[in-house]
Amino acid sequence: MEKNFFPLTQRRLRTDKHIRELTASVKLSYKSFIQPLFADEAIDAPRDVNGLNEVRVDTIDTILQTIEECIKGGVHKFLLFPVPAEKKEKDFSFSYATSVVKKIKENFGDDIWLASDVCLCSYTTHGHCGILNADHSHLENNKTVEVLAHYSSLLANAGIDCIAPSDMMDGRIAAIRQQLDALKMEDVSIMSYAAKFSSQWYGPFRDACHSAPNTNGLKNRKTYQMSPLHPNDAIASALRDEKEGADILMVKPAALYTDIIARLKSQTLKPLAAYHVSGEYAAVESLAVQGLLNREAAHLEVWAALQRSGADIIISYAARHAKEWIESMEY
Ligand code: PBG
Ligand code: ZN
Repeated sequence: MEKNFFPLTQRRLRTDKHIRELTASVKLSYKSFIQPLFADEAIDAPRDVNGLNEVRVDTIDTILQTIEECIKGGVHKFLLFPVPAEKKEKDFSFSYATSVVKKIKENFGDDIWLASDVCLCSYTTHGHCGILNADHSHLENNKTVEVLAHYSSLLANAGIDCIAPSDMMDGRIAAIRQQLDALKMEDVSIMSYAAKFSSQWYGPFRDACHSAPNTNGLKNRKTYQMSPLHPNDAIASALRDEKEGADILMVKPAALYTDIIARLKSQTLKPLAAYHVSGEYAAVESLAVQGLLNREAAHLEVWAALQRSGADIIISYAARHAKEWIESMEY
């Protein structure tokens, strides 16, 4: 008689796709997804972004078609990145951003939920996320927060549903909340980039948004974004943002920081969003183009990892495919 090596079998539940599907405890849903959108004032036709397969930077007119297509794919939640043509050091104009928001909300109304990134790196000549001092050696926290809170109030007036500040200044959540409440905009929520790391994986995005730092002063974002070697900073900052009034806490990048998602999940009752950022997306896409992995299956595997670690919301450049891919997923 052949010896039975597996009296305590685990393989029985892997026998066929039906039982694998039935017993899966991670159930993905397209309803959890947010699609990023880009609108650039300086272009008059959409442009592709190096590395970001299928993502384009739109004009104020073509962005409506992009949203239309996403809705056909099942996405109704969006994160907008408005890119103004004019770059300055201070006294920024937010009229382009507000006109894009107005136009989108006029067209789609309550059929969509629209969040806007709030940061200054697409506005500044030097590409930093806020206002620098005279010799560009230092990013001025309070001056920046004041501008961001004002910017947020303008977006709220224009009809935005959610403010997503990605600047990483201290105190911006409280300042934005205060400003919104003072204007009776209590329903406008805040999704804080609460644990945002200083990362190599934002490369393709910075090309899309003209937001790479370029000054001889402050060379990188390490004095305001988090170090990958300081996980406690991420948890402390996220909990601080929660206290200041953030409604949703985001971890970014996502797939490289699932430990942070899991730790944060155990310490907050707020919904967590995981942002699978441009470089992470581009890495999957580039391996797929080389035939080294299956594109859909690879994205689904990433999404499952994010959900397992505790993410309630997934921000992905492939969100527009989430419904189709999840429905036809092979178990
Ligand atoms: C700007 C901002 C960045 C991203 C979102 N908002 C880039 C950065 O901080 O340099 C990254 C998004 C992505 O890479 O997909 N504050
Ligand atoms: Zn920024």
